[in-house]
Amino acid sequence: MKVVKTVSELRAALAAPASSTGFVPTMGALHEGHASLIRRSVCENGRTVASVYLNPTQFNSAEDLEKYPVSPAADAALLEGLGVDVLFAPDYGEMYPEGYRYRVIENGFSGLLCGASRPGHFEGVLTVVMKLLNLVRPDRAYFGEKDWQQYRLIEGMKEAFFMDVEIVPCPIVREPSGLAMSSRNRRLTPDELSLAPALYRELSSGRTVEEIRKNLEGAGFAVDYLEEREGRLFAAAFLGKVRLIDNVPR
Ligand code: PAJ
Repeated sequence: MKVVKTVSELRAALAAPASSTGFVPTMGALHEGHASLIRRSVCENGRTVASVYLNPTQFNSAEDLEKYPVSPAADAALLEGLGVDVLFAPDYGEMYPEGYRYRVIENGFSGLLCGASRPGHFEGVLTVVMKLLNLVRPDRAYFGEKDWQQYRLIEGMKEAFFMDVEIVPCPIVREPSGLAMSSRNRRLTPDELSLAPALYRELSSGRTVEEIRKNLEGAGFAVDYLEEREGRLFAAAFLGKVRLIDNVPR
């Protein structure tokens, strides 16, 4: 696996011909959810590129960014073991030479669900994903359905800007308890970790939204949103300082 940190190193690494290129962007602190995207890309493409970049523009809370888990050595070892060909791990200066003066803005869905409580979040996500896709120019890019709203907005951006890439949605990977895997789970205390699976249990219970809200609040969650749309039930809820999200078909 080639590890590259600059745009010019990335371009040099991608100059070698490949039958097709798959791309998996991440923010690191990798787990089985990320690994499932990588495996699929390795299986479907001649070459797989992964990125690990903790993108500050998509964090609306300085504390959330500061506390975000990082594990660069373990991440690189995992990616190499899964057969990734190129790992792109840039810093802020490489990704934002213009200082985040140019942005991708969506004026609709990005204001709902996670966008309602995280102003500017999807602006940061869409901007960095546009930059990464323009650099890597993959045939396929892989995104998890755990971040369903993110996946839909990226698919919408691709359509809106006539981008020549296939956006591939991948199913949510869960712990045996049902808890959706997430880098932020590492920040849960042992007590919170034992409560956390109730989020998925409630979402998939078939109960009404009102009942689910009551049960989650009774169990100690602070519910940010709980909403049905697009035939799915979406939720974000805090356990202590950690915000968990999940969604299920309904
Ligand atoms: P990150 O949270 O690191 O997630 C990287 C990719 O892994 C995303 O597509 C996400 O949906 C997927 N993923 C995370 N947990 C998953 C799980 N349990 N099952 C399936 N897929 C899962 O999402 C981001 O980073 C960033 O916003 C990014 C797109 C990289 C832009 O900065």
